[in-house]
Amino acid sequence: MSLKIGETAPNFKVETTNGPIDFHEWIGDSWCFFFSHPADYTPVCTTEMGRTSQLAAEFTKRNVKPIGLSTDTVEEHKNWILDVNDTQHTNLTFPIIADPDLAVSKLYGMIHPSESETAAVRSVFIIDPKKKIRLTMTYPMSVGRNFDEILRVIDALQLGDKKRVATPADWRPGQKVIIPPSISNDEAKDIFPQGWDELRPYLRLTDVA
Ligand code: BEZ
Repeated sequence: MSLKIGETAPNFKVETTNGPIDFHEWIGDSWCFFFSHPADYTPVCTTEMGRTSQLAAEFTKRNVKPIGLSTDTVEEHKNWILDVNDTQHTNLTFPIIADPDLAVSKLYGMIHPSESETAAVRSVFIIDPKKKIRLTMTYPMSVGRNFDEILRVIDALQLGDKKRVATPADWRPGQKVIIPPSISNDEAKDIFPQGWDELRPYLRLTDVA
């Protein structure tokens, strides 16, 4: 059964490149970008690990902790990180989970047997500080993820929580946002004193700082 948005992210204890962790304790009061990849020493994965490391300051700015996973061992991860650092010109410090027995991969539905019985596909889970799953995405093994989109969706989720708004297609920080239909016009007057454009009664756009 696949994990759904709104569910509590299952907890686990596991070995990582930064030592053993209890997943929920490790997340603490942060958000988490939990992503799996098929295998160490593979080209697409090498670029994704490098990109995540290069974006460390962007994740920190958003109070997000990245953590990777593949079904390889800690020793293999650690040796591969040397290649990631060398080829992607970075210094990878976030933890990578070792999951040689597939325990975490199976718990999170990262094994898609028609693709591989032993390697994880490219899953993404964005998890909030309450340990709720806020986004899931699954990419095939041959396609590297779009990290602009990962940061964008984190921005949209965090803004939505803070300002009680939704975000339109292709929204970027600073652009107009949507007043959700669950908020009546009467309530909206208090929440959005700056006003809004009403294109339809169900489509109200406003600016938030
Ligand atoms: C890669 O990371 O390059 C990769 C892994 C599995 C299948 C295809 C590509």
